[in-house]
Amino acid sequence: MRFAAFFDIIEGMNDKERVVEIILSALPDDAGLDAQTISDLIETPKTSDLGDLAFPCFALAKSLHKAPQAIAAEIAEKIETDRFEKVLATGPYVNFFLDKSKTANAVIADVLSAGTSFGDSADGAGRNVTLDMSSPNIAKPFGIGHLRSTVIADSLAYIYQKMGYNPVRINHLGDWGKQFGLLAVAYEKWGDEAAVKAHPIDELLKLYVRINAEIKGDPKHGIAPNKELDDAGRAQFLKMEQGDPGALAIWKWFRDESLAEFQRIYDKMNVRFDSMNGEAFYNDKMDAVLEELEEKGLLIESQGATIVELGEGKNPALIKKSDGATLYITRDLAAAIYRKTTYDFAKSLYVVGNEQSEHFKQLKEVLKLMGYAWADDMVHVSFGLVTKNGKKLSTRAGNVILLEPTIDEAIERSLAQINAKNPELAAKEQVAQQVGVGAIKFYDLKTDRKNGYDFDLEAMVSFEGETGPYVQYAYARIQSILRKSGKSDFSANFVEVDPEAWELVKLLQSFPEVVARAAREFEPSVVAKFAILLAQTFNKYYAHVRILEENAGLASRLALASAVATILKESLRLLGVESPEEM
Ligand code: ARG
Repeated sequence: MRFAAFFDIIEGMNDKERVVEIILSALPDDAGLDAQTISDLIETPKTSDLGDLAFPCFALAKSLHKAPQAIAAEIAEKIETDRFEKVLATGPYVNFFLDKSKTANAVIADVLSAGTSFGDSADGAGRNVTLDMSSPNIAKPFGIGHLRSTVIADSLAYIYQKMGYNPVRINHLGDWGKQFGLLAVAYEKWGDEAAVKAHPIDELLKLYVRINAEIKGDPKHGIAPNKELDDAGRAQFLKMEQGDPGALAIWKWFRDESLAEFQRIYDKMNVRFDSMNGEAFYNDKMDAVLEELEEKGLLIESQGATIVELGEGKNPALIKKSDGATLYITRDLAAAIYRKTTYDFAKSLYVVGNEQSEHFKQLKEVLKLMGYAWADDMVHVSFGLVTKNGKKLSTRAGNVILLEPTIDEAIERSLAQINAKNPELAAKEQVAQQVGVGAIKFYDLKTDRKNGYDFDLEAMVSFEGETGPYVQYAYARIQSILRKSGKSDFSANFVEVDPEAWELVKLLQSFPEVVARAAREFEPSVVAKFAILLAQTFNKYYAHVRILEENAGLASRLALASAVATILKESLRLLGVESPEEM
């Protein structure tokens, strides 16, 4: 960590490490606790009247043959308090009260001088982290799962970049497979070029649904299954796999039309990719993988298909179907190896829904059997399902979220709120776009990713509650205060450490650890929750003190407000959310 508040007394240590050191030196030799154990035991008290850090002494009772209360008293007695405001024994706890004014000054000075690079780390040493993200299937609607993947991964990319890595955003498009053979057959039979051009995904989906329905038939109503169509689709896909120019031309048209639609969504969401290499990209790279599997003795014929056994009690990985067509996992094997060779990743993240966890387990296991130790650096960053009105999304039941109109509605609703609150605002449309899109992203990201959530547009765009607009509004409010002050440099000696200000200082100080934890746990919600807390705490402060009042504390209050604004803005940036200067 590179910020001075953590360095003020013992160089290179943060407050907690410093307290660990102090406790260690205050303990008798036979206490039997090492630094790590002490560090794990240290707590952050719930209320600040119990100090900033607390060490419970229960664990020492046995080795020291004394009551925890007595041990706490002895430790507190031994510690030189000049490093702290005070150190007190409260029952079985030793409570450490940081020197507030020293800490506050150091933290605020650091934030103001580093700006949004406060909390940047060199941990990643510039190594690549690949993020498999978004990855919609062409000729199908861009689903809410793809939205979650896009938003979570985009945020992780920013977070990892802040940790010193180089993020590589890869859109592993679902653009290959037998379904595109079927689609081509359906198009030849029933398709209408103009209709597809006008509404590509709607039309292609209709064709796909129709051919599948005909293949299945409806024996109950006397409609026989149509196996010929299925065979035709399979034959068409084989042609694609073999590089037949005609078969590829029509596939490429479906792909281009679909991508143009997806691109509109990405533009609205303000998300870009470094690579659009989808499944089709690996078509000519799978033979090499199959050969390698063969050489390593891993391929087994089973009922005409080709599989890799993964051990007892586990389902084998199906690598090739009996007709020779390759599968989703075959392409993922080729992609994983390609990414390692191309990017030499430190980590390879797959931001994909929970329902594919079996697939990613298999993928990793096959790679390990192939002898690739780097398979351990692959992480399935999974996430939960989104519901609407508490019910599962289902096209059939009509419970659907159409992404593009939903984004547009979020923007409109934001505009309506701005019109009500601040009708004079310049560039209203642009701000509404930042607020509406930010609202959808933020709502997704504040949820622990493994949990799902109910898609509630009204709650998302609300300026109240734990929402993106609430955080954005807190930022804009501070900017407006700072503008009113007429100053542009806010660095100042910080003299007013009242309890509300101290809460803010502690939050600011924790920001680097917040970012590090979000990265470690692949959990943008850590940053989102922090942003909410910082905004809420600032609003309390704002209600309690008159920031712009002309008195001796003015400069400190402006310095603090400016530091809070910087970190709010940076937190939102890490979530892929913009911070309008005015709202
Ligand atoms: N296209 C897939 C789907 O929509 C997601 C792909 C995820 N990435 C991967 N490398 N398998 O379900």
